[in-house]
Amino acid sequence: MSGSGKGLIGIWLYWNQPDDAGVHQPEGKSTTTTTFSKPPLEKGINILHMESRQTPRKESFADILLEVDCESDKMQEMLAAIKDKVTSVDTRPVNMVTQQSSSFDTPASSISESFDFEEKEVPWFPRKISDLDHSSNEVLLYSNDLDVDHPGFKDEAYRKRRMYFGELAMNYRHGQTIPKVKYTKEEVKTWGTVLRALKELYKEHACKEFLENWPALEKYCGYREDNIPQLHDVSKYLKRKTGFNLRPVAGYLSPRNFLAGLAFRVFYCTQYVRHPSEPFYTPEPDCCHELLGHVPLLANPSFAQFSQEIGLASLGASEDELQKLATLYFFTVEFGLCHEGGSRKVYGAGLLSCVSELEHAVSQKALVRPFDPRDVTKMTCQVTTFQDAYFFTKTFEEAKEKLREFTLTIQRPFAVRYNAYTQSIDVLTDSNKINSIISELKGDLYIVKNAINKINQEQQEDNCNLDTLALALEDHLTTITPTNCSPNFP
Ligand SMILES: [Fe+2]
Repeated sequence: MSGSGKGLIGIWLYWNQPDDAGVHQPEGKSTTTTTFSKPPLEKGINILHMESRQTPRKESFADILLEVDCESDKMQEMLAAIKDKVTSVDTRPVNMVTQQSSSFDTPASSISESFDFEEKEVPWFPRKISDLDHSSNEVLLYSNDLDVDHPGFKDEAYRKRRMYFGELAMNYRHGQTIPKVKYTKEEVKTWGTVLRALKELYKEHACKEFLENWPALEKYCGYREDNIPQLHDVSKYLKRKTGFNLRPVAGYLSPRNFLAGLAFRVFYCTQYVRHPSEPFYTPEPDCCHELLGHVPLLANPSFAQFSQEIGLASLGASEDELQKLATLYFFTVEFGLCHEGGSRKVYGAGLLSCVSELEHAVSQKALVRPFDPRDVTKMTCQVTTFQDAYFFTKTFEEAKEKLREFTLTIQRPFAVRYNAYTQSIDVLTDSNKINSIISELKGDLYIVKNAINKINQEQQEDNCNLDTLALALEDHLTTITPTNCSPNFP
């Protein structure tokens, strides 16, 4: 899955509209409706996205999400015109916190409840893992909203199937078991076709970290040409390897919502399969892209950490900074290259799930440059064509270091850290919170130091690196201590 590159500058509206006001709920069905009357519009109001869902609160009502772009006076006019026709209206800048409350998708924890920043508009971000329930369904392209050039646009059976997958994802909540899917023969055939073609290319072009997890994925998760792995099984495997969880999603999320999931080591994953007419092309992420392109590297600890660090950097970032982070994610996690034994290898999921672009990226035709965040953030992410350039680092560690340097430039009035014990985000705003983390770190450093000592004693050999590490740790243990923090730290 990847967040869409679409710019979100509009306003979301949520309202409940009874049947007789224009929302037509098919009799006896509890599925999402797609027929509704248009709100009163006039010049200067641009609808960017519109979708409706059956409200979980009252059968005959529907929740309608409308994303619009307009001047504030036009917005007021529109709100005045629709307020007497619907039960309730909630407006908010996309991904921004307001003081308004809503009974629909109201964030469980709001940054405005916890912080007293001079800037009032700090973009909302999830503070605990269950908060993802409130942002995971803000998909930009809902299941049946296929573009006219989508291979399945005219295929009613395919669209109906996509509705099924969309509802599975929309109904999912944190902590639930991911529903297992009985895939059709046609879907399995499509998956098998893609897997067979890509596996041949992996042998030569995939990086070693990607390849090393394949045997386990085949053994424990059912990676076979005649079987589409279940997200439930794959998620369990990843949890054991790196702590990552998969979470089903109905379609494209905004970059902000998608990256926020990574901060919790949650990877949004579609469950549907691309249209069978074009097994080697999909205009959107599907389970072939997620399971083949992303999952093998999410099982790698270093890569998992890299992904999470991008996610953490995104929390509360400004729109401009968020866009830069999303671009960095795009040209690394989706389209990144690395060097291995003098050869160019691939680790980007967008490449490792697309036969034609993978062949292009490793050919002499592709423009390949060293990964430098300052250059990369100026790039345009191509969705329907090959990228204009690809970027490489020697290792994930190098990519991580460069990303860390970049995140230091983010103008955020606080730092964040993921607390794996509570599955929540620690927002570091005072010395007590920082002292608490230092205390934990110190405990970990002593464990490492103890381990080095034991290895040195047992092996009785020249452990230059271990000695160096021990000295470095000793240095940190004496200098990094809570008592060094002044009461007003930082
Ligand atoms: Fe992706």
